[in-house]
Amino acid sequence: MTDAIDGLKMRERNGAGDAAARPSAYAPQSAQPPQQPELHPSLEQPDALRALFPVLAQTINGAPLAYLDNAATTQVPLPVLDAIRAFEEHDRANIHRGVHTLSQRATDIFEAARSALKRFIHAGAQHELVFTSGTTESLNLVAHGLSDSADAPALLRPGDEIVVSIFEHHANLVPWQQAARRSGARLRLLLPDAQGRLRPNDLAGLLTPRTRVFALTACANATGYRPPYEALLSMAADAGALTVLDAAQTVAHGGFDLSALPCDFVAFSGHKMYGPMGIGVLAGRRDALQRLAPLRFGGDMVQWVTADTAVFAELPARLEGGTPNVGGAVGMAAAARFIEALGRDRLEAHEAGLRTRAVEGLSRIAGVRVIAADSAPTAIASFTVDGVHPHDLGTLLDEQGIAVRTGHHCAQPLLDHLGCGPTTRASFAMYNTADEVDRLLAGVARAVKILR
Ligand code: ALA
Repeated sequence: MTDAIDGLKMRERNGAGDAAARPSAYAPQSAQPPQQPELHPSLEQPDALRALFPVLAQTINGAPLAYLDNAATTQVPLPVLDAIRAFEEHDRANIHRGVHTLSQRATDIFEAARSALKRFIHAGAQHELVFTSGTTESLNLVAHGLSDSADAPALLRPGDEIVVSIFEHHANLVPWQQAARRSGARLRLLLPDAQGRLRPNDLAGLLTPRTRVFALTACANATGYRPPYEALLSMAADAGALTVLDAAQTVAHGGFDLSALPCDFVAFSGHKMYGPMGIGVLAGRRDALQRLAPLRFGGDMVQWVTADTAVFAELPARLEGGTPNVGGAVGMAAAARFIEALGRDRLEAHEAGLRTRAVEGLSRIAGVRVIAADSAPTAIASFTVDGVHPHDLGTLLDEQGIAVRTGHHCAQPLLDHLGCGPTTRASFAMYNTADEVDRLLAGVARAVKILR
């Protein structure tokens, strides 16, 4: 490196460095998007509610679509599509980088979406919210960020311990395997008791003075099991570990109150909460987020750059390198408003009712075994059928217009541990009906006759 280049200060194209162009440097602009009609979605008016989801109004293989694959991806209602469209038609520009009006307006809209989502999860003054591409990126950001060094040494060192439960989606397991490999830390697994439950006593036996991280799902995507995550996170936090909650399967159902949880990091996705794909959140305690080495280096996450080095921006910019998915953030915030308008308690009760109906009906079909049948009702019913491969069952259900997920659900260690192998999973959302559950039950009974 020559002296000339060595001393060269490179500033971003707005001439003031990325951080200086953050919203605080702007006078707020008043965007005037097209007026949206007031909508009052209600679970008591299922036809009107379903009419807000255009994708549901179609036939598949000659039968009305019964979409029961909501744990994989939920559908998007018109108010969310309208919010995205209003942004793209009226306000689209890059953010944090421009002095022109559209850029300032887009910046304000993006930051308003951040604020709305913080309110949605009850984030407190001690919390921050970072936009990512989804739960997988959020969890990778934490696992990588604690095992890599950037402007500070990595938190995880050889001999440290990371505890995860066997109930995790691969996205909350494989990144920790990699973090252990990178850092020399040891990965330890919290297993269920004979009744299939995670117990605080079993976690107590795993926690040591070297435990640095405890990562847990709020609801197992493969089976619908809801662990007592509040008690387990508390125990890990009391032992001095950083706590990570995968809330992908919870945020659109009962939700959670971040301020009431002993939780350093929480991750969730837009596409599982009636929002767009390719957008998600990592939220958590500001001082915990500050310990993460960034995963994406580049524009907008730096304060100052020379040819040799860089000073990173403050949170949340530090962890949001590159142009973010602004339309996605707008859609995710609109989805949060939509869920809130329905009422989360009523939504959770509606889905639990559908799940209970499904579990009771499935249990009456010979050869069907529901996994985690005794769990507190969530929105997921996962089951096996003796002598029938789930993919065959899923194909026959699809022929009747019924969409379910079949296979390992990205949770292979769990299904291996439970000894059940791949399953068929029906998962429920606000727009599902008892009639659709009954169609599932009739479809399974019919498929069982054909396939066995
Ligand atoms: N994580 C998603 C699921 O459980 C894709 O199906």
